[in-house]
Amino acid sequence: MESGAHSVYEQAKALWESAHPPRHYLSVNDLAPQAAHAILTLARAMKDATRRGQEVFRFARPVALALIFEKPSLRTRVAWEVGLHQMGAHGVYLTQSDIQMGKREAVMDIARNLSRWVQGIVARVFLHSTLEELARFAEVPVINALSEREHPCQALADLMTIHEHKGEQPLTLAWVGDGNNVCHSFTLLATLLGHHVRIATPEGYEPHEAILAQARAYAQASGGSVQLLRDPREAVADADAVYTDVWVSMGYETEREVRMRHFLPYQVNEALLRFAKPDAVVLHCLPARRGEEITDAVLDGNQSVVWDQAENRLHTQKALLALMLGTL
Ligand code: CP
Ligand code: NVA
Repeated sequence: MESGAHSVYEQAKALWESAHPPRHYLSVNDLAPQAAHAILTLARAMKDATRRGQEVFRFARPVALALIFEKPSLRTRVAWEVGLHQMGAHGVYLTQSDIQMGKREAVMDIARNLSRWVQGIVARVFLHSTLEELARFAEVPVINALSEREHPCQALADLMTIHEHKGEQPLTLAWVGDGNNVCHSFTLLATLLGHHVRIATPEGYEPHEAILAQARAYAQASGGSVQLLRDPREAVADADAVYTDVWVSMGYETEREVRMRHFLPYQVNEALLRFAKPDAVVLHCLPARRGEEITDAVLDGNQSVVWDQAENRLHTQKALLALMLGTL
């Protein structure tokens, strides 16, 4: 362990412990503001160390995680597997065709079995209720690697990236497109941390009302705000960051044709980006459908920070895990 790095971890861990640390991370709602700050601070230190070929944190005893994926993944899977390797831990990748949760075996029985072998369960699922069931029956922490309701690990990388490029003072952050899982977690974390979020979606594709209500409560406590709009130009006007995601999320493929029609005016292109601040950054959780929700010119342009955002999945997940399981 790098000298000085240990104290970075100890400081983040103390902050984490003081902030009602969650047993599971299924939703951004599991984090108090100080817990989110602890993750983001540690992630930054981990990024610096990893880039120098060093590590801030390695597990002192054998640690293995089950990595359950009911849906495809590039970033989430690679960031978990590489992150675990760097921290001296091991990931067991399990696809739906391997374990067939709820078909070959009841979700609760899978949770009970896995708890006897691994120290944590990371799961990407179709139904958020599957995560809740895993968490109810697991004796080890469960982490949401994407459900139809939230993508809370993604939100940590999003806010880390925005803070790296724009600072941590209150910022105006525009979400353009589908009020989906990524929008939910991003809106929750951004308002928890005091930012102003403007969301522009077509009618019928707004974020869930319960998410918006929670975001409004966070904003009231943090000094941030959340605004729901129709016109993407209004959302993007003078924004510090513009964020979009695919118009057809995994699991919604049958709606593709009708969604394409509704979302067409919500494309993040150079014309829309001109409404934002000239130095605004562009985010996308990826994978992108080039030419649909975002143009090549914007994705590959000099305002795009999507590759930093993808890299930061690694550092934020490592920080989250070190804080959640760090006493092992
Ligand atoms: N952003 C994200 O979660 O990417 P993957 O679906 O490739 O994991
Ligand atoms: N909203 C997208 C995010 C993919 C990382 C989906 O759920 O498919």
